[in-house]
Amino acid sequence: MSNKTPYYITTAISYVNGAPHLGHAYEDILTDIMARFKRLDGFDVMFLTGTDEHGQKVAKTAEKNGKAPQEFCDEIAQTFIQLKKDLNISNDDFIRTTENRHYEAAKDLWLKIKNAGDIYLDSYAGWYSTREEAFFSEKELKVDEKTGEKRTPNDTEVEWMEESSYFFKLSAYQDKLLAHYEAHPEFIQPASRRNEVISFVKGGLEDLSISRTTFNWGIPVPEDDEHVMYVWLDALTNYMTAIGYPDIESEGFKKYWPADVHVIGKDIIRFHCVFWPAFLMSAGIDLPKQVFAHGFINVDGQKMSKSLGNVVSPTDLIEKYGLDQTRYILAREISHGEDGNFTYSQALNRLNSDLANGLGNLAQRSLSMIYKNCDAKMPARENLTEQDTELLEMCYSVIPKLRDEADKFRFNRVLEEIWRIVYAANAYIDDQAPWTLKKTDHVRMGVVLSVIAETVRCLGIMLQPFMPQSCKILLDQVGVDENQREFSHISGKYALSDGYEVEKPEGVFPRIQIEEDNDA
Ligand code: MSP
Repeated sequence: MSNKTPYYITTAISYVNGAPHLGHAYEDILTDIMARFKRLDGFDVMFLTGTDEHGQKVAKTAEKNGKAPQEFCDEIAQTFIQLKKDLNISNDDFIRTTENRHYEAAKDLWLKIKNAGDIYLDSYAGWYSTREEAFFSEKELKVDEKTGEKRTPNDTEVEWMEESSYFFKLSAYQDKLLAHYEAHPEFIQPASRRNEVISFVKGGLEDLSISRTTFNWGIPVPEDDEHVMYVWLDALTNYMTAIGYPDIESEGFKKYWPADVHVIGKDIIRFHCVFWPAFLMSAGIDLPKQVFAHGFINVDGQKMSKSLGNVVSPTDLIEKYGLDQTRYILAREISHGEDGNFTYSQALNRLNSDLANGLGNLAQRSLSMIYKNCDAKMPARENLTEQDTELLEMCYSVIPKLRDEADKFRFNRVLEEIWRIVYAANAYIDDQAPWTLKKTDHVRMGVVLSVIAETVRCLGIMLQPFMPQSCKILLDQVGVDENQREFSHISGKYALSDGYEVEKPEGVFPRIQIEEDNDA
């Protein structure tokens, strides 16, 4: 068994009622960057993602499409599986809530909660939003001025529901939840979201309806198959199913539970930070260590919506800019926990200035000079000047700073920190002018070029979580051993040795030429 520290990270599982969009891609990429970062930092990572396939919303959409729910789910789940491949997501498992293993897990959790005395049968009369698969109290709803209709705070429709239902005694958990938030300030991140949850819970919790009888697309309630489980109770359990629950003695569960972090969007905080911990407390299971809620992606300053026609498809972006470029843009433009704005012109500027002119140019001009002027062999790094060691030290000392920012999901700051090195390296090469040294001091020219190549090696290693394919090309070009590409290898001890035969380098980040009128 590995002696690495386990690290378990999950995304929300997506509803299969429509095609994946940029918001889903953003969450996947954000979580993937963290998973890859942790692997490179020496952790034993388990990364889970998947699809949420039950509930009224999916059942209705399947019906509209003239399909049986399972057939419909099978089709749409494939588009999500494909999206992960297209985005080069490094998930270790993909869970679908219609799988057998998940039925077992959800039923077991239900029984544990029931045995704890926290489930009772009654009838529900109240408002439900199918779009959000959530119950709303009268006081939470607003009234549409034009139509007089009641709407949720997120502006989705509600319908009145009256049916027999099992309830979870959520009200009994108010104080325990508040005590948990107090004792574990890191549980809900960022802090702004934490405050939001605390004030919601302080406002009072009502018992939660956790079963439905008016449709049957769900997991049957144990010992009463007139009812199906409320889709959120079913869905949240996925995080445990994938690692072996209900077998709590299984290797996976023992190793990876409690999860280190659930990465979710800000719209589903209540389910993850109130309902989920309360279910687990009731069942006597440890709570996840953290829920990190990211912001939403807007396009050209507006919420993405089909009616506005501004929904950006992740595959279009990949086609237009390239995969790693798409990953880079999403990580760079959106700051931790806040809403982010995507515009084509901003993306284009970033890609050309940071990747083509910044990093790409640095690698290309140094490696092609080595190829042309040093017999395609890595020159020796000797008699180093202060400027040489300063640049190398910048590389060798940066990981703790990156780790600090990454742990808070501040990947834009991680990239800013890395780009300080890119700028310093470009300033160094301009200052040292190896093209002039070529005529005056060939040995010194070699030293300068190999200092840059060593810088490229370090940059290639630290940028792998963001741009895995391009970094692989960069690292192959400078001859880095496949087994020496972890963060611990960013040190002088593993520096490039001289004599390595450099292949004719090819530009990794070409300049992107797109006419302005493509800016949708
Ligand atoms: N099925 C539930 C989650 C269950 S988790 C046990 C769900 N699905 S979803 O398909 O609507 O959303 C999946 C994830 O994508 C959520 O974390 C959601 O916040 C996120 N996003 C959906 N639209 C988004 C944006 N426009 N921007 C960023 N993320 C967004 O909720």
